This record gives sequence, C-alpha cells and structure tokens, in this order.
Amino acid sequence: MTSTYDALLGRLVRAFDALLPGADPALRPSERGDYQANGVMALAKARGENPRATAAAVLENLDLSGIAQVEVAGPGFLNLTLTTAFLHDQLGALLADERLGVPRGGARTTVIDYSAPNVAKEMHVGHLRSTVIGDALARLHRFRGDTVVARNHVGDWGTPFGMLIEHLLDLGEEEAVASLSIGDLDGFYRDARVKFDADDAFKERSRARVVALQSGDPETRRLWRVLVDESVAYFAEVYRALDVTLRPVDVVGESYYNPMLEDVVRDLDAAGLLVESGGALCVFPAGFTNREGEPLPLIVQKRDEGFGYAASDLAAVRDRVGNLHADEILYVVGAPQGQHFEMVFAVARAAGWLPDTVRCEHVAFGNVLGPDRKMFKTRSGETVKLIDLLAEATQRASAALATRASTLDDDERRVLATQIARAAIKYADLSTDRQRDYVFDLDRMIAFEGDTGPYLQYAHARLRSIFRRLGASWDPGTVTFVLADAAERHLALGLVAFPEAVAAALSSLQPHRLSGYLFDLAQRFTAFYESCPVLTAPEPTRTERLALCELTARTLALGLSLLGIDAPDQM
Ligand code: ARG
Repeated sequence: MTSTYDALLGRLVRAFDALLPGADPALRPSERGDYQANGVMALAKARGENPRATAAAVLENLDLSGIAQVEVAGPGFLNLTLTTAFLHDQLGALLADERLGVPRGGARTTVIDYSAPNVAKEMHVGHLRSTVIGDALARLHRFRGDTVVARNHVGDWGTPFGMLIEHLLDLGEEEAVASLSIGDLDGFYRDARVKFDADDAFKERSRARVVALQSGDPETRRLWRVLVDESVAYFAEVYRALDVTLRPVDVVGESYYNPMLEDVVRDLDAAGLLVESGGALCVFPAGFTNREGEPLPLIVQKRDEGFGYAASDLAAVRDRVGNLHADEILYVVGAPQGQHFEMVFAVARAAGWLPDTVRCEHVAFGNVLGPDRKMFKTRSGETVKLIDLLAEATQRASAALATRASTLDDDERRVLATQIARAAIKYADLSTDRQRDYVFDLDRMIAFEGDTGPYLQYAHARLRSIFRRLGASWDPGTVTFVLADAAERHLALGLVAFPEAVAAALSSLQPHRLSGYLFDLAQRFTAFYESCPVLTAPEPTRTERLALCELTARTLALGLSLLGIDAPDQM
C-alpha cells in the first residue's frame, strides 16, 4: 500500500513539477486541515509571481481525489483536509497489511558498529546508550529490508593486556576465570592497575607480556583468549538480560584488524598521506586544526611501533566497504569521539577507501546524568553496572505489579517485571533526542503514567484486554470507517501516520522520532477511549471502533518492537 503521506506528497510533487521541474514541496501533519503543504513561497519566488497566484496554479494541477477541502493559508500554505472515504481506504489497507503501511526499501547492506564494551571492564552507562540506540537502529533497518551487519567493536587489544595477563597469572587461571565470570570485571582491572602502579617488577613483566602478545607467543595468546572469552560471555549475559539482538558472532573486536594494519600503513604511505611527526606515523587530514590553528594528526602508528585505536578504525572502514560491501556504516558511539570519527572518515576518503556513495555516519549521543546533573555514578563514585540497574528496575516493577489486581501467576509476573524493567530503561534512552544528555531517574522511567515505556506497554495491554473480553477471536470482516466522532478521526489520522514516523526515525537516525509518535498515538487512543464506548456501542459502530482498537494495538506493538521493547498482552 502507499501510505497517506506518500500518496499526498506524490501528488504535490507532480503538481509542483508541472509548474517548475524539480520544485520541492514539503508536507507535514497539521492541526489545521489534516496535512499542511509548504513550498509555494519558494515556487512563487522562482516564477516571479504572487504566492496566492502560485497557490491557485498548484491547485489547478493537483489531483484532488480524496481531498475534501483545500484552504490557502497565510503566505502560501495549503491546508489539506482528507475525505472520510480516503481515510476509510487507508485504514482498510492498514488492516490488511502486516507492515502497517511501511514500505520495504531496496536491499541495502547497513553495518552498525555498536555497544563495543572493553574486555575486562564493566559495561557502563555509555555502553548502555550505544547498545540500546544501536539495537533500535538495527531493528529499524532490518524492518526496512536491509541486511544489517552488526559489529561489536570491543576493545580487546592494546597495552593494558600485558598487565591483565600478568594479573591473571598471579591469581591463577582458575581463580581469575571465577572472578571474571561472576562479572567482577572492574575489580579485576582495578587490582591489576594497582599492582602495575605500585610494583616495578610487575610493571616490567607486564611490558614484556605486551611484546609477547604482539609477537604472537602462543601461550600469551591463549591467556589473552581466556580474558576475551570470559568478558564476551559476560557481555552476552547482559545482552540477553536487556533483550538486545547482538550475538557472539557480531563480536569483531579491535584485534580482528591486526593482520590488516601493516597494509593500512603501507597504502597510506603509497598514497603520499603518511607523515612522520615526533617519531609517530600520522596523517594530517585537511581541515582539522587544534585551538592554536595547527594541523591535527591522526596517529596511525605510535612511536613504540604499536598501532593505535585509529589504525584499527581505518582498517575497519576498509573491511566494511571492501569485504562487507556496506552501503551505509553507522557508528553508535558517544559524542566525545566525534572528532576521532570525522578524522578517520576524512583519511579513509582521502585514501580512496570510502567512496562518496557510502553513507558513513557517527551516530553520536550525549551523557547519562545522575540526579545531581553530573555524570551518573554510584554513591561511592564508581561507574554504575548495567546489570545492577536492570536488577533494580526489575525489583521496582515487581513491587508495582504486586499492588495491582491481576490474574497472572508468579512466573508470568516475573517475566512481566523484566519486560517492564527493560521497557523503562530502553524507552527513557530512546525517547530523548540522542544528542542530548538525560537524567537517569528510575522513578520517572518506570511510572505507568507519562511519556514512559511502561505507559505504552500498558496502553497496548489495555487494548488487548478489550479483545479478551470479547471472548471469541475477533475477525473484522469488512469494516466501514465513517469516523463520525472527532476523537475517532483524530485517532485514525494518527494510525495512518505510522510509516512517516518510521521513515523519520530512519532518515534522522533518531529513534525518538518513533517513540514520540507512539506516545502521541497512545494519547489519541486515550482521548478516543474516554469519549467513545467500544463494546457497548451499537453495530456497525462497534465493529468500526474495534477495528480502530485493533490497529492501535498492532501499531503500538510493532512500533515498540522496532525499539526493542516488548508489548505484553496483559499487565
Ligand atoms: N570500545 C570503545 C569505547 O569503549 C568504543 C568503540 C567504538 N567503535 C569504534 N569503531 N571505534 O570507548
């Protein structure tokens, strides 16, 4: 089916095009009329006419079937009101369409680099954002029809591994594995660090160990593997608890690119891009300067011959374009790494590894703040473990459920509590503009009222309960939508707008465009439900209203699923 928005926009484009080829009208849902068209002003300017005259000319060329009324407002806005017949057709098509009007895109390959925690370090709230936003984007792209290749670029290489391996040996392998597998990654790292700073002999051993690791000493590599495998197994547990689609095969860490780094250096050199600066090998991409106006280097190989973070990212771009054939590469990483990525992309372009046809974007996000609006930390000043946050949210959800009358048994309640907890945490993250910071406030996030995940889950469950009360399974047959009540029409206009919300979230890489839509839809539903009785309404109104309920429930469930949030049938 063609969505309402696309149908109207298509007509506008044709009408504008007849007057000025390539003219670019815009359309948005609006409270005055159902949709408002914009672009007449620019067209009038280009044609050297008065906007009113241009508006009249557009109208002459516009296919008006399904449009009940057009009002020319202000300096050339067109307010379009749809006919009920048009909405009837659109709603009927939605009922018959599993995708609820969202078109399938061309088969593109999208690589999404997300989560990327560090081996032997706890996943902190920054990784929560990357994981939750990245997973929502992965689900949205998959739904569009892309082949999504997730890349969990874990930090599994570098100088700290010397001290981590020596610490593992000091503890004894068994003991070390035990402490890592209970998830005390930070404790392990901290202890290694303390020894490294205090004990010169340990420091020496650690340095020698890094050399052994880099030269491929088999026993050192085996011990390194132990550290990586234990950490990755722990991460997998966190992903399972969060219901995140990352799998073990998506873990393609920094170390994966080691064998490609020599070539990166060689090819940058051959392209004349490599410069020696202070003993390090660097590229100075055009347009990047520090505060003093001096050119900024991207360090590819350090003075000690070791390759750095940037080198593996350069190799990764090459791999993603050359071997994975990416059409689009997204890096869901915190805003502070913005310049790093801009420089990596610039160097990759200069080296010819990143053609302009590939969309390469740093999907940046802001910080998670504590109630004091400072970086979110535990009371003792440590980073907050994701898994602890989830446990606390689950406990709160269980407590809230215990106060409600319910027919669910204990097991069902336990499952429901985890679904609510995940929804609370994910939705709070996904419902703010990702570039902005947000305050982690569990009380607000888990509330059943307000712009929260549990509120949307509850709206969905309430809809499902209407159908449960019906008893027998409900088959709409043919529904005639007359939308006699203003609240019905308002809800219907919300329902037909789902495809735009999905498209907006995808094009802006902003999941909050979808969550904002879902919240608005739930509010439209609430207003409808308050003024329009459903089960007690006479036929054919009852069937029409049930169909609106069914579409609302399906839209909420599908929308939430694209954000990685469950929509339980009962709460
Ligand atoms: N491991 C890094 C960190 O914790 C994030 C890696 C992001 N991805 C990348 N391709 N550099 O900060």
